[in-house]
Amino acid sequence: MRVLIVGSGGREHALAASIAASPHCLEVHAAPGNPGISMIAKCHPVVADDIEGLVALSRDLAVDLVVIGPEVPLVLGLADELRHIGIATFGPGAAAAKMEGSKAFTKQLLDAAGVDTAESYTVTDFAGAKLAIGALGGACVVKADGLAAGKGVIVCDDATEAERAAEELLGGSLGSAGSVLVIEERMEGPEVSVLALCDGEAAVPLPSARDYKRIGEGGTGPNTGGMGAISPAPGVSDEQAQQIVDTVHKPILMELTRRGIRFNGCLYAGLMLTETGPRVLEFNVRFGDPETQAVLPRLGEDLLPWLMACAKGQLEERPLKTYGGSAVAIVLASRGYPEASESGNPISGLADASIMRDTAIFQAGTAIAHGKVVTAGGRVLAVVARGADADGARAAAYAAADKVSFNGMQRRDDIGSDSQG
Ligand code: AMP
Ligand code: GLY
Repeated sequence: MRVLIVGSGGREHALAASIAASPHCLEVHAAPGNPGISMIAKCHPVVADDIEGLVALSRDLAVDLVVIGPEVPLVLGLADELRHIGIATFGPGAAAAKMEGSKAFTKQLLDAAGVDTAESYTVTDFAGAKLAIGALGGACVVKADGLAAGKGVIVCDDATEAERAAEELLGGSLGSAGSVLVIEERMEGPEVSVLALCDGEAAVPLPSARDYKRIGEGGTGPNTGGMGAISPAPGVSDEQAQQIVDTVHKPILMELTRRGIRFNGCLYAGLMLTETGPRVLEFNVRFGDPETQAVLPRLGEDLLPWLMACAKGQLEERPLKTYGGSAVAIVLASRGYPEASESGNPISGLADASIMRDTAIFQAGTAIAHGKVVTAGGRVLAVVARGADADGARAAAYAAADKVSFNGMQRRDDIGSDSQG
C-alpha cells in the first residue's frame, strides 16, 4: 500500500512510524511532515490546510490510503473531497468534524444520543450568559463555541469570574470563536482520553490515555497542546475503556448515522471520571496529540490494516492486541511556550536517546539548519518509553529525555504520575 499522512506534528510522526513498520506498506508519504518524519517517509511541501494541494498530491501519488492527522483539514472537508475522487481516507468528513469545530453542536449531539455530559446552556449574549451562570450556581465552565487552540475554555470558581470570562469572549477576545458560548456545569474528577477506531458503525477502543495539559507541574499555569501523556490512564482498565466505547462512542456513531453522517476515523472522547461515572467533556475527531505518541507504541499488532478497515467501513469489532505495561511520552518544549516560542536552537542528544531500549523520539516543532536538527516551534518533540508498569515507563522515559537538551528547553517532571493534568 501507498499511504499519505497529512500533518507535521509528533502525532503524525508516531503514525508514520507505525505505518512504515507495516509489512503491508510499500511507501509512506507525508504532507508536509517534519525532519523526524522525513527519516521514514517522503515529505512533500504541501501544508495541512491546503485542501486543493492535498487532493492533487494524493491523486498524483496514486495513494491507496490517506490518514489525516490534524483537525483543520478535517473541518475544511479534505476527507469528503478525497472520498469523492475514490481515495480511501482515514478521517471524518466536515459534517462530523463539526464535533470539534463547534461545542454547541457537540452538546446537542450528546443530548440527542443520550450520552452523559455536563448540564449546559448555549448563549449568544451577555444577558443569556448571566442567566446561565446563575442557573449553574456560579462555579461553572465558560467555553467558546469555535476552535480556539486550547484557549477557549475557562474553568471558573464563582459567578464574578464566570461573568468576566463570558464578557471577554463575547467581546471578541478570541475573535468569532467566542460569539457563541457554551456555559456548563463544573465537574470534578480525573480525566481520561478514550480514542476509538471507527468505521461509521463499529468502534474499537485504543488503549486509554491521560494527557497533561498545563505547562506547569501539578497541573498549574496556562493550558498547552499537551506536555505529555501516559497510556493506559492510571486506574482505567481495558474493560472500562470498552465500556466507555459502548456507552459513548457507539451511541454517537448511531446518532450521526441517523443524521446521514458516517464517521470513518478516530473518535476521541475526553471524559471526566466523576463520582457518578464517566461523563463526556469533549470530542476530537482525530488522534490526540500527545496521547497518540504514548498509545501507538503499546499496540501489539499492525495498525495499517485497522486504519484501512475504518476507511472502508469494514472494521471488525475485536479487541486490539496490546503490550501489557505502560508507555509514557514526555514533551520537550521551547522557552516561552505556550504564549510564544523560540526557534533555531540546536538539539543535542537525539541519537543517544533514541538508541535506548523500548524508546522512541517523535519530532514535532523541528527543522534542519546547517545539517543539524534545531527547534522550530512550541512543542519540539516527545520522548516515549515503554515499561512493565507506569513507574517503569516513567523512569525509562525520563532517563531518555535526560539525554536530550536545547537552549531554553521546558518540560514537566511529573508526566505519568498521579499528579493533576
Ligand atoms: P475541553 O476543551 O472542553 O476539553 O476543556 C479543556 C479542559 O477544561 C478539560 O480538559 C478540563 O480540564 C476542563 N473542563 C472542561 N469542561 C469542564 C467541566 N464541565 N468541568 C470541569 N472541568 C472542565
Ligand atoms: N491532547 C489533546 C488533544 O489532542 O486535543
